[in-house]
Amino acid sequence: MRDIKIDSPVESVDIRNSSRSELILGIEGTAWNLSVGIVSEEEVISFAESAYLPKSGGIHPREAAQHHAEKIVDVLREALKKMKEKGFSEEDIRGVAFSIGPGLGQSLRIVATAARSLALKWRVSLIGVNHCIAHIEVGRWMCGTEDPIVLYLSGANSQVLGYMAGRYRIFGETLDIGLGNALDKFARSVGLKHPGGPEIERLAQKSSRYIELPYTVKGMDFAFSGILSAAKKLAEKYPLEDVCYSLQETVFAMCTEVAERALAHTQKDELLLVGGVGMNKRLQKMLKDMCEDRGARFYTPPPEYTKDNGVMIAYTGLLMMRSGCTIPIEKSRVNPDFRPDEVEVKWK
Ligand code: ATP
Ligand code: FE2
Repeated sequence: MRDIKIDSPVESVDIRNSSRSELILGIEGTAWNLSVGIVSEEEVISFAESAYLPKSGGIHPREAAQHHAEKIVDVLREALKKMKEKGFSEEDIRGVAFSIGPGLGQSLRIVATAARSLALKWRVSLIGVNHCIAHIEVGRWMCGTEDPIVLYLSGANSQVLGYMAGRYRIFGETLDIGLGNALDKFARSVGLKHPGGPEIERLAQKSSRYIELPYTVKGMDFAFSGILSAAKKLAEKYPLEDVCYSLQETVFAMCTEVAERALAHTQKDELLLVGGVGMNKRLQKMLKDMCEDRGARFYTPPPEYTKDNGVMIAYTGLLMMRSGCTIPIEKSRVNPDFRPDEVEVKWK
């Protein structure tokens, strides 16, 4: 999409000294989930979503964008209706936040267009939110953690981060594909439905037989594609439950090792798990045990805020707006490769 050049009527609203409960509306739609959240500083006011589920294979970028375009009005209406049922009106909305990246370009553009239109219609601030940072901030909000090491494991992204000198620094990350994508690809190759993560978790619970797989940790980075190929081979000769179990044990042990190393190097004593893969109970257990062993605290938000959701965009939008991080319409171009360490964190 071309940059939109119009004289923006949008002005930054300073809500720092206001006593009224002012709301931010956030729209998420980087990949599979189109979602709208509305928050005040104190609570989630409203939440509506529509998931794109591919009929076959994995996410098709064009189909995902088509889904978002078809559903955006319905999802917005539902979120606004729920907000009104709580006694608020559209006039209480003081900013519109949207996921500006990283993500699938076509989907990002649908969401950005909707957000720009709403900001213009309501004459309020527009806030472009980094999707990864939003996972972190909603996790911190929900769990009440101050300064955690963050393990962010989703479909496309796998990183270990921590706040240091004004930014969320990436201490380690995947050298090839995201963990969720690796799980989804393995699941697809053995005929399980998308998304594969929960399917693998379900089957893994039926086994306790470990079959060796490659283990790839390099410093604080990890890699998953070699393990994915090896697991596909194992699935030709071993029961699927055993392969799912072995796959989970291997990749989650790698994530736990990296998270522990980050805690040790930074001397932080909180670990926060976010991103869709973070809903996995076995992963949570391994991380919790590791934290207990070293006297750290483990946190993960409720599942609806671990996976992609509009509330995380709204809440991060609220933090950003309070510190003046709004954008004029003409600078609101989406960034499919936006990395979290590019964001100057002015609200901490
Ligand atoms: P991002 O843009 O941050 O990469 P995303 O679009 O991948 O996000 P998320 O909702 O954060 O979306 O993560 C989706 C991933 O989470 C999918 O790959 C899915 O298989 C995985 N997942 C969901 N539930 C589980 C589970 N119980 N165990 C393991 N993986 C899971
Ligand atoms: Fe995500």
